[in-house]
Amino acid sequence: MYPGVTGLPRPVNNSHDHILHGITTFDYGHTHSYYAITGPAIDLPGGMHTHYVYFETNEVDGHRHRVQDFVIPAAMG
Ligand SMILES: [Fe+2]
Ligand SMILES: [Fe+2]
Repeated sequence: MYPGVTGLPRPVNNSHDHILHGITTFDYGHTHSYYAITGPAIDLPGGMHTHYVYFETNEVDGHRHRVQDFVIPAAMG
């Protein structure tokens, strides 16, 4: 899975973050939902940026998943 940004940028400490929420796609036969707040913007070449995010999904079928990833790069707006 590769979390997508679903929330508008929220200004924070001369940077911004985003609220992420959605449904996981990496399981067979069940899904988990998640809600997380990203870290601040990380600049990339070409005027793009990404954000680090870490979260745990909700519990389904007796387990939860820990996800650690970078969100899909976007143009700095
Ligand atoms: Fe699972
Ligand atoms: Fe962003």
